[in-house]
Amino acid sequence: MHMIDLITKKKQGGALSRAELDYIVCGAVRGDIPDYQLSAFLMAVCFRGMTAQETTDLTLSMARSGDMADLSDIPGVKADKHSTGGVGDKTTLAVAPIAAACGLVLAKMSGRGLGHTGGTVDKLESIPGFRTELSGEEFRAIVQKTGICVAGQSGNLAPADKKLYALRDVTATVDSMPLIASSIMSKKLAAGADVILLDVKYGSGAFLAAPEDAVALAKRMVEIGTAAGRRTAALITDMDVPLGLAIGNSLEVREAIDSLRGHGPQDYTRVSVALAAALLSLAGRGTADECRRMAEDAIRSGAALAKLREMTEAQGGDPRYIDEPSRFPRAAYTEPVSAPSDGYLQHMDTAQIGRASVLLGAGRERAGEAIDHAAGIVLAHKTGDFVRQGEPLAWLHTNHPAAFAEAQASFLSALAFGSTPPSPRAEIYAYVTENQVIYHRNN
Ligand code: URA
Repeated sequence: MHMIDLITKKKQGGALSRAELDYIVCGAVRGDIPDYQLSAFLMAVCFRGMTAQETTDLTLSMARSGDMADLSDIPGVKADKHSTGGVGDKTTLAVAPIAAACGLVLAKMSGRGLGHTGGTVDKLESIPGFRTELSGEEFRAIVQKTGICVAGQSGNLAPADKKLYALRDVTATVDSMPLIASSIMSKKLAAGADVILLDVKYGSGAFLAAPEDAVALAKRMVEIGTAAGRRTAALITDMDVPLGLAIGNSLEVREAIDSLRGHGPQDYTRVSVALAAALLSLAGRGTADECRRMAEDAIRSGAALAKLREMTEAQGGDPRYIDEPSRFPRAAYTEPVSAPSDGYLQHMDTAQIGRASVLLGAGRERAGEAIDHAAGIVLAHKTGDFVRQGEPLAWLHTNHPAAFAEAQASFLSALAFGSTPPSPRAEIYAYVTENQVIYHRNN
């Protein structure tokens, strides 16, 4: 086989066979295929797309390119959830403990934040002592003991994705449906769960702006998961506005704890309950209504909060921070951003708000940069609110006061005001299963 023939075939719109895709994936991991040929192939995929069969074959090949976790000796249904990323998206911090409190085994690998989106690993590491870099044995031992563990991705999980993603990032080939689907699903399949729930976000803070595109991506990923023998479904959720009020690592952990105590922001709690309920229902725990009630009961009874505490302790974190979130260190400086005029907050460019939080120190522009766990933004108003001139729209938190001016300007530039309220948007747009797309009633 010759790489130039495979690039030509894809360039002309042909469909590559499983053997041909295996050749590309193995060559990428072994370093046998030069970056310029891999990049040409990725660009050809961007323009020509891939059939459903090609996307599944590519994903399976990428999943098998490194370690495949085998959780089969751990009793119970092993469940995983994955969000395509957003701003203030702290759903794992609530969904994982809710689902574990309801009897599922949550063995989850998460990522760090990059660019405007946050990452669960960074959020958890804001709890003093919390370890996310675990050996395979430690990960399994914690899952076995507590039924829940959220760790960083192991070094050799889907190395083909690591290679291809790094090239996509610098060749403008990230935004291709089959490449996104295979990238996400290769890691999910390698992580070993029986049940996979995807939270595919759409809107100004998401990868994909349009809900139809999010549904199309979700369908592809559900198809792949199902073909690989995993029960897979997706919720399509709104990321045209930050989720909850807190953006930034320890600020988000505090908000998650508040929500598990029953007094967090309603949008965040509703989305978390919907995700947990979907996971439970996918795992065969009951009807959609029964699973929603189970998830709500896990919050009401304190069982979900107890699971978060148990996980924290098992991963070396100080559980007193879960009991008393006021222990989290506050940023040394806090300043408001004030409303420039009276009016309705008509739109929030959510990615831009994420970038403002990065300026304050809450995120990183490049992989590997240090972050400030206490930095971030706490919103006082969100899309749809009426505000008066001079009223605080948000509070900015940082340990680097020189960052305020640029972060304030950046935050304000993300907002659009008007004299009429915007039309309301649904938090949950649709539920995508193997066989159907169920659109939410209030769309
Ligand atoms: N997240 C991933 O892991 N891969 C993509 O391609 C996009 C989002």
